[in-house]
Amino acid sequence: MAVLKKLGILLSGRGSNFEAIADSIQAGRLHAEIAIVISNRPDAPGLESAKRRGLNAVLIPSKGRVREEHDADVIAALHRAQVDLICLAGYMRLLSPHFIQAFPNRIVNIHPSLLPSFPGMDAQKQALEYGVKVTGCTVHFVDEHLDNGPIILQKTVPVLDGDDVNSLSARILEQEHAAYSEAIGLLLSGEVEVIERRVLRKRVSSEGR
Ligand code: GRF
Repeated sequence: MAVLKKLGILLSGRGSNFEAIADSIQAGRLHAEIAIVISNRPDAPGLESAKRRGLNAVLIPSKGRVREEHDADVIAALHRAQVDLICLAGYMRLLSPHFIQAFPNRIVNIHPSLLPSFPGMDAQKQALEYGVKVTGCTVHFVDEHLDNGPIILQKTVPVLDGDDVNSLSARILEQEHAAYSEAIGLLLSGEVEVIERRVLRKRVSSEGR
C-alpha cells in the first residue's frame, strides 16, 4: 500500500476545519495522516481536540516573540514530523518569507470568501456589507502576500436576504469543511500542477496511453 502522506496542521482557535480534515481521514475519504497539529495559542480549542484525538498536538506560543524566531521553531517541528503538506486552519499569524520558502507550494490556507474578493479579516462581514449575492470559500496556496496564492478550489454560497454575519458564516463554514479535504485530496493525488497562477489538472500525454 502507498505510504500515507503526512499533514501538518497550524491553528489558533476553534479548529473546526482541522476537525473536518481529521474526520475525513477517519472516515476513509481522505488518504493521509495528521503528523502534527501546532497551535500558537495556549487556549485554542483546536489544540485540545487534537489531544483528545490522540494526535501529536504541540503548543508553540507566539505571544511576545519575534516572528522569525517563532517561525523557526514551527519550521523545525514541521521538519521533525516530516510533513508533506502544511494546512493553515484558522492560523491567525502571517508567515515570514523564510517560512514560505522552506516549503515551496506546500502550504495551503482556507479563506471564507471567493478570493480575490474580501481578503483579510471578517471576510463574511465584508461580503454582506458590500452586498454581493454570492460568496463562498477558497482553498489556496500561501505566498508572501495575504490571502493571495494560486487558487486550488472554491465553493460558492448564496447570500440570502435574511442573512446576518452568523448565518452566512455558518453556511460558508459548512462548505469550508467539504472544500478543505477535497483540495488536500487533490493535491496529494499528484494530479495537479501549478502553472503561473493556475492550479490545473495534469494533462495525460498521448504517449502514456
Ligand atoms: C475559518 O472561517 C477559515 O476560513 C478562516 O478562519 C476560520 C477558522 O475556523 N481562515 P476554524 O478554527 O477552522 O473553526
